[in-house]
Amino acid sequence: MCGSGTFLIEAAYKALNIAPGLRRNFAAQRWSQIDDKVWADARAEALESIDRLGEFKAFGFDIDADAVELTQSNARKAGVGSKLTIKQSDISRFNQPENSITFCNPPYGERMLEIKDAEMLYKKLGDRLNPSKERPCYIITPHEEFERFFGKKVDKRRKLYNGMIKCQLYMYFK
Ligand SMILES: C[S@@+](CC[C@H](N)C(=O)[O-])C[C@H]1O[C@@H](n2cnc3c(N)ncnc32)[C@H](O)[C@@H]1O
Repeated sequence: MCGSGTFLIEAAYKALNIAPGLRRNFAAQRWSQIDDKVWADARAEALESIDRLGEFKAFGFDIDADAVELTQSNARKAGVGSKLTIKQSDISRFNQPENSITFCNPPYGERMLEIKDAEMLYKKLGDRLNPSKERPCYIITPHEEFERFFGKKVDKRRKLYNGMIKCQLYMYFK
């Protein structure tokens, strides 16, 4: 359910210590009161801080071929294409690798599928995921009864907003 690949790309940046603003320009760069050297020094420092030998491997799957292509293209643009493996696949074929972390935000129902379809998908997800200390799973959804459909009692949950949508981060790590 990798969509456009945001989670995967941000995870790669975090793992390799790549500053998120490194590839963009800032309006404040045009302000005369900030010397160009300040920006150049900050960029040089950020570049030097990248963990170039860091090992990071992530896999993304989505049922939609366009989403797969979009994630691949976004990852390449973000400079982490070689760290990610993206494939078209239905969640019902997903297997959690050993010593891995699974993270996703399945369709919410409000926007992409009817609620009932989303609930069926949460059930499918529950059939494929077997969270443990070695293979924790993190799922973001606004559905208040997610645990019931997923079929597992959460270890911890935390409220967060996805834009204007109030969601919960359901954390399974035991
Ligand atoms: C809310 S979006 C995920 C957005 C993503 N986190 C991102 O950064 O763009 C949900 C994704 O789940 C995918 N999806 C829906 N049903 C699926 C299924 N049965 N198996 C795999 N992916 C599915 C959709 O194609 C969509 O891209």
